[in-house]
Amino acid sequence: MRIEGKEYRTIWFENNIVKIIDQTKLPHQFVIKDLKTINDAINAIKVMEVRGAPLIGATAAYGLVLALIENNDQTFLKKSAEDLISSRPTAINLKWAIDRMMNKLSGVNSDQILEIALNEAKEICNEDEKFCENIGINGLKIIEEIYSKKKDTVNILTHCNAGWLATINWGTATSPIYHAHKKGIPVHVWADETRPRNQGANLTSYELNEEGIKNTIIADNTGGILMQRGEVDMCIVGTDRTLANGDVCNKVGTYLKALAAYDNNVPFYVALPSSTIDWDIKDAKDIPIEERNSEELSHVEGLDENNEIRKVLIYPNNSKAKNLAFDITPAKYVTGLITERGIVNASSVGLKELFKK
Ligand code: MRU
Repeated sequence: MRIEGKEYRTIWFENNIVKIIDQTKLPHQFVIKDLKTINDAINAIKVMEVRGAPLIGATAAYGLVLALIENNDQTFLKKSAEDLISSRPTAINLKWAIDRMMNKLSGVNSDQILEIALNEAKEICNEDEKFCENIGINGLKIIEEIYSKKKDTVNILTHCNAGWLATINWGTATSPIYHAHKKGIPVHVWADETRPRNQGANLTSYELNEEGIKNTIIADNTGGILMQRGEVDMCIVGTDRTLANGDVCNKVGTYLKALAAYDNNVPFYVALPSSTIDWDIKDAKDIPIEERNSEELSHVEGLDENNEIRKVLIYPNNSKAKNLAFDITPAKYVTGLITERGIVNASSVGLKELFKK
């Protein structure tokens, strides 16, 4: 998608260096950062220079390429894979991408391994882009249906950033929106600010602006009253891990939005590529929920009067804060899952229909 009119993907490989858009600097600065070592890749995931489930997976895949460039040795590769897996615990795409890479690379001859690794990392990215495009084509049908009845702007609420910045291109939740916009359907997005890291304000609103899509940032607690007033036609969110029974793990606050949507008969859709389905965990209580530094709550970052980025404390100095990064939305509150293969009920029957193993 575009930034200042120029087409970008979120990650690419050039002269043995992995290039990323440093998302900790957005929206105030657009910085392309070089990842040169496996530790650079691990750090980029940990500090969220890259974030969003599919992009975390792609970065991990390229991280293994960097590991091989550094030290073409199976023991080092295995250790790098383990370190990458523990860099962020919740998004299943991370493990999915590492498993896929290691299946290709384990035991491969050292003179062929780098080429195989690079091809596989590129394939993971190309596939994600295609899947996200298909999610858009499938989700577009829902927006078209609402528009055909309403004949006026379709108002869509989203939480966090499941936009193109969270994937390789298109996004998951935003892909149907981009497709609707390209078709000339008037859409307007309510972007939840998404405290504490403000991905909705800093990233979703930013990328929609760059594509010329109308949007309004709201505080995370505003969705309920907007739904009661009939100002939300549908919700679309992304996910970090969706279980085979349809339970959805996503950015903290998603659950409360789903409850409000349920109470107000607002359709609540979750958009995901198949790489985000966890076929193994049976009970949502077993999903590892990341707990991040409480400083993300107690401090905020922004531009000061000299256009410099500054971080300031907003809480009482000695207050405690708890920063759980994700929550679980039970399948019963999800109207449907928008995948690259089609739209299904959030249930084991629905998912099995599309993804027969
Ligand atoms: O903590 P983040 O910014 O990585 O969380 C991102 C989300 O919760 C997204 O909704 C999810 O990863 C899906 S991205 C297509």
